[in-house]
Amino acid sequence: MSPDTTAGASPVNQDVSLQVPAQAHLETHPGLSPDGGPSVTLSIWRGDPGGGAFVEYQMPAIEGEVVLDVVHRVQAGPAPDLACRWNCKAGKCGSCSAEINGKPGLMCMTRMDQLPQGVPVVVAPLRTFPVIRDLVTDVSFNYTMARQLPPFAPRPAGPDGIYRMMQIDVERGQEFRKCIECFMCQDVCHVIRDHEENKAFYAGPRMFIRYMELESHPLDTNDRRELIRRRTGLSLCNITKCCTEVCPEGIHITDNAIIPLKERVVDASYDPVAWLGRKILRRTKRSAAEAAADAPAFSSPTREDR
Ligand code: SF4
Ligand code: SF4
Ligand code: FES
Repeated sequence: MSPDTTAGASPVNQDVSLQVPAQAHLETHPGLSPDGGPSVTLSIWRGDPGGGAFVEYQMPAIEGEVVLDVVHRVQAGPAPDLACRWNCKAGKCGSCSAEINGKPGLMCMTRMDQLPQGVPVVVAPLRTFPVIRDLVTDVSFNYTMARQLPPFAPRPAGPDGIYRMMQIDVERGQEFRKCIECFMCQDVCHVIRDHEENKAFYAGPRMFIRYMELESHPLDTNDRRELIRRRTGLSLCNITKCCTEVCPEGIHITDNAIIPLKERVVDASYDPVAWLGRKILRRTKRSAAEAAADAPAFSSPTREDR
């Protein structure tokens, strides 16, 4: 069971006072200054799929620290069994994402001195994904969704053996490839955050940028538009932009990926002019059926099947 730290409110822009758990208990680090020097308190969700609770850890304050530094000191002191995923400590691996005072954030990039002072900092696992233990969640849903569409299938290189692209196409793809797979955009997307049942047929914003990167690649030969319409739940996204607001890489998820992707899918299915154009002009991409053969892993029901 994932902890509900939001009390039914929007996952972002919440009153921090709402985040302080009522039944947390206090543990004091043995190294806490005996003279009552400055301290910080982390209220960390501890538990497993069976349930859990917030536990407070009061630690000496150290200038310049980020939340992950304090979590590491908690691990080194009062709670060596605290589970927490991290890798780079530089905002580049995406593995330390958590909900800090009710907002998704990278623990390694969230400075303690930029959070409200004098109250506990509440740290909880991403709510949208199943808890494994403490701050670690099972994000395999995202990898399952990544396999729902066929991968990049380039056309043959030119006679000189070189692939060529326009610079504008290179830059479009580079924006999407900045994704560090922190999955915070998935975490705030209301389509799956509050509706577990939608996960069976909704890929989410992180996957939509992947699909848009593939669909807009000038060298790719797969036409995935029908597959996107049937398999990814793109129509459930109502462009709230919550995903874009939390992206630590500043990717314009809705403007540059979701909206153009929706336009392409609608064109493919419902635009009679585009349909006629495809009939008259020579088809240069593999059909949806041909492309689907490259994604045999698909096993979930589509929205149309339900
Ligand atoms: S814009 Fe769409 S994908 Fe992004 S959070 Fe809103 S509903 Fe989800
Ligand atoms: S798109 Fe942004 S928020 Fe979403 S997983 Fe990638 S880096 Fe994280
Ligand atoms: S530890 Fe890699 S992004 Fe935070």
